[in-house]
Amino acid sequence: MTYSIVDIRKTDTCLKNSIINGINQSTKSIPAIVLYNELGLQYYEKVTYLKEYYLMEAEIDILENKAGQICDYIPEGGSLIELGSGALRKTRLLLDSIEKQKKNVTYYALDLMESELKRTLSSLGKFQYVKLVGLWGVYEDGIEYASNLSGELHKTIMWMGSSIGNFSRDEAANFVKTIQDKAMNPGDLFLIGIDRRNNPDKIAAAYKDPKGINTKFVMNGLNHVNTIFDQPIFDLNNFEHVTMYKDDVGRHESYCKVKNDTTLEFKESKDNPKTVIKLKKDELINIGYSHKYNKAETDALFDFSLLSYVESWTDSQSLYDLHLVYKPPSHFTRKFDSHN
Ligand SMILES: C[S@@+](CC[C@H](N)C(=O)[O-])C[C@H]1O[C@@H](n2cnc3c(N)ncnc32)[C@H](O)[C@@H]1O
Repeated sequence: MTYSIVDIRKTDTCLKNSIINGINQSTKSIPAIVLYNELGLQYYEKVTYLKEYYLMEAEIDILENKAGQICDYIPEGGSLIELGSGALRKTRLLLDSIEKQKKNVTYYALDLMESELKRTLSSLGKFQYVKLVGLWGVYEDGIEYASNLSGELHKTIMWMGSSIGNFSRDEAANFVKTIQDKAMNPGDLFLIGIDRRNNPDKIAAAYKDPKGINTKFVMNGLNHVNTIFDQPIFDLNNFEHVTMYKDDVGRHESYCKVKNDTTLEFKESKDNPKTVIKLKKDELINIGYSHKYNKAETDALFDFSLLSYVESWTDSQSLYDLHLVYKPPSHFTRKFDSHN
């Protein structure tokens, strides 16, 4: 065994409740977390191999060229904690660099499914200097776990794949600020991959491919809801995957569209009363956003989170950025810097 897995699940995500509440609103939604069960993670991995899904290629491009520079900032004896580690295809490039630099570093991969943590961590093989640990839980559990690693010398928290885009801008800012506040000590680092406000057609193509892999990924989310409730809530044949990119707000939106009028019936359970929700033909249920960030939005994010830039790296086509920021001993916001 070259890795260990720690079950850190503590947070009650109240998933059934949030699913019912989300669909019961006039603007309907299902929490995007339902996309990431075992099958969903495997579909997502397939999406990342699509030529249209430029985000992955861009992040790999940066890491292939800059992993050494990034790892120069990670000190001997430190820890690297990745939130939502996924397939580890890119992380491998960073870990290889750390290994090459002969630094003893503990890498913690946090994700939702124990089986996928085992599959992906075992695919990394053996390292002499890097110690591998899987953390099985949700983001909040990972932040708490990281906050308790205070005995370790230095922490770098990673959030890659433009996963921040799944949060609204306000949620994202609050979440990153919480990481800074709870999980980081002064001098600790935060490495984040963020997609830019690129050409709208390019963005749209990344999330709706001709092979239909994105669609399978999203439809599997509805199937996962059926599994969560152990009831046939959604008839998948009655839903269609539709997407749109709103350039004015820099947001890609993914929906399940109702083909014919239908009724969803959630049976009574110990958590919820019986709930019946009528859906009209053409009604949309949101199942995920991908927000894109321009420079001002990225600056505002770090400013709000009281984090300061160390260095940023861009891919060769200038589509995507990796930002390394740190928690300073004290923080001066840009407002004070600019003497306005
Ligand atoms: C967009 S994928 C990115 C995967 C990987 N970091 C990459 O860059 O390819 C999001 C990842 O975060 C995980 N994830 C989503 N919501 C999560 C949550 N609330 N807590 C923990 N992990 C989560 C998913 O399971 C998935 O592996």
